[in-house]
Amino acid sequence: MGLKAEDVFRPGAFPEYTYISRESAVPGLSYEFRLEQAIKVSGFLTSLVGPSKMGKTILCEKVIGFDRIVEISGADFDENTDFWKLTAAKVGLAYEGQFTSEKTLGDSGDRYAKQEVFALTKDKIIDYFRKKNLVLVIDDFHYAPEMKRMQVAQQLKDAIRRGFRAIVVSLPHRADEAIRQNSDLSGRLSLINIEPWAVEDLKEIARIGFKELGIGIDEEVAEQIAVESLSSPQLMQYICLNICMLLERSENGADRIRAEILETAYRYTTANFEYGDVVSLMRRGPSTRGKSRNVFLTKDGRMCDVYELIVRSVAENPPIMQLDFEDVRDRIYRLLADGCEGPKPQMIRDSLAKLQELLNSREDIFKVMDWKEGVLYILDPLFLFYLRWGGERSC
Ligand SMILES: Nc1ncnc2c1ncn2[C@@H]1O[C@H](COP(=O)(O)OP(=O)(O)OP(=O)(O)O)[C@@H](O)[C@H]1O
Ligand SMILES: [Mg+2]
Repeated sequence: MGLKAEDVFRPGAFPEYTYISRESAVPGLSYEFRLEQAIKVSGFLTSLVGPSKMGKTILCEKVIGFDRIVEISGADFDENTDFWKLTAAKVGLAYEGQFTSEKTLGDSGDRYAKQEVFALTKDKIIDYFRKKNLVLVIDDFHYAPEMKRMQVAQQLKDAIRRGFRAIVVSLPHRADEAIRQNSDLSGRLSLINIEPWAVEDLKEIARIGFKELGIGIDEEVAEQIAVESLSSPQLMQYICLNICMLLERSENGADRIRAEILETAYRYTTANFEYGDVVSLMRRGPSTRGKSRNVFLTKDGRMCDVYELIVRSVAENPPIMQLDFEDVRDRIYRLLADGCEGPKPQMIRDSLAKLQELLNSREDIFKVMDWKEGVLYILDPLFLFYLRWGGERSC
């Protein structure tokens, strides 16, 4: 039986058929090679840092293999979580417990039950990892509470010296102080930065996958999808899978992808994304306490305030994850009707700062952008994709 599209394109799991190996920032060396090299160095902790949805977890799984990898997440921790207890539980070792043993006493034949309490020490866990050649991956480390991150770093420092192997995976800047800025760990760290994906590497996912499925795709079409994927292999996999579903639904089936179906495929792809609340919060901006804001007339005849203009400007073509202030300003002015005086640059700057503050005060899903030193960074490619293709525009 032929392969199914969902086996080939796997946005949420290990992509067996469409795994792409990329060259790292060190010319000639792939990410796989560098990670393998890093975990072989005994006594060192590996810190893997990269933006959201760029293939950090999949890289660990590829290099370490499912039989040797032990994955825990920063989200598994609260203030009271015991790092070693959690690690022991992941490999099926009981960290502490009680057992009852029955013994027969002397000649009388009396039996008595003795309760013993045991506690597995961290030394035993380290030994177990070494014997079985296991590697601990602490994924999404930034989700662990700040204090906990420091404590874990302390535990790791001691453990790696004794041959325990571990990789800490996190988003840029978010967990730096515990690992990369920790002077206790300096000189004992292997640092790997995962860069955003180049269009050529993303195209490769479509090329390999559609070939596997016997579907033709032109270079230019693959290129368009890759650009829309905003440097994320996950989005690329998602869009390709949705294209397959569209093709399956089309009456004459299709063995070639036409550019005309791409926009529909993009819209389908956003159907299960959960950014509706984030977008509406951004469009509303901070509370005005009853006062109304200035509104500006746009080319398509709508009245938008500065927050709505910022959101719309980010969604404009070309899709970019990092916008200089001048880009944002120019995009806003281009949206406005001829002759309409737009918001002053200072007002745009202030609004970006307030927007950042508003998003920071909310849960993690709202942390989609970073306005820093005159540059607007979009942190989550899926969010930007949603902004471009999901839902409806309200202003
Ligand atoms: N090397 C690769 N080749 C092809 N597709 C990949 C590759 N790496 C990742 N992907 C695709 O991207 C998806 C997301 O990858 P992964 O979960 O590793 O990203 P991440 O950086 O860990 O994301 P998050 O920031 O959400 O933790 C994978 O399920 C897979 O579909
Ligand atoms: Mg991950």
